[in-house]
Amino acid sequence: MTGADLRINPSILAADFVNMQAELARIATADFVHVDVMDNHFVPNLTFGPQMVERIQATSPIPLDVHLMISDADRWAPGYAELGAASVTFHLEAAADPVALARRLRAIGSRAGVAVKPATPVEGLFDVLDEFDQILVMTVEPGFGGQSFLADQMPKLALLRDEARRRGAQVWLQVDGGIGEATIGQAAEAGADTFVAGSAVFGAADPEQAIARLRAEAGAHRH
Ligand code: DX5
Ligand code: ZN
Repeated sequence: MTGADLRINPSILAADFVNMQAELARIATADFVHVDVMDNHFVPNLTFGPQMVERIQATSPIPLDVHLMISDADRWAPGYAELGAASVTFHLEAAADPVALARRLRAIGSRAGVAVKPATPVEGLFDVLDEFDQILVMTVEPGFGGQSFLADQMPKLALLRDEARRRGAQVWLQVDGGIGEATIGQAAEAGADTFVAGSAVFGAADPEQAIARLRAEAGAHRH
């Protein structure tokens, strides 16, 4: 597996919100910038909404990977695709009709992603894998950065990887939460190809070096 087949998406949850342009300049080698939208309802934390994301979209040199941790995704997710986000991921637990919503996101021109919390099974997605461009397996309870990686999510990833291979589905498998040099290998081993890292990148003295190390470590464990 070459480096081109995997993606490192730093999460700006760990960045300085009032110096966003400077923070984005520190991660120029990232594939996407991961943007965590939280509504203090689906998760017990609050970040920002479409107005802020629209400004980040307008000023970011890196495409946006928006992760919506919000209730009533059916109502709100299309707006993030409309403002130009490259990828919009909503939570399976927060959508009334996930397939219809994914189709709307794709019709607007965004990649469609669906995320699952640690306790949510993924077997229900097997028959509709082709409806999604990426599936996000949360490796922490969503809501906060800096939590410990949940290794018990690896069997779920492996299940998705095997099922996607069996069906020839092109879906990307993303992990988010507690990803760093010590954990990214396990996630790559289990089938992840798209890696979100907040504190491991923005907490590093040299974020681009951190990205390079994560990329190398993930590449060494992909198969
Ligand atoms: C958590 C967010 C993550 C968070 C990851 O709910 O979805 O994207 O920023 O932060 P780290 O990498 O520090 O665990
Ligand atoms: Zn996230």
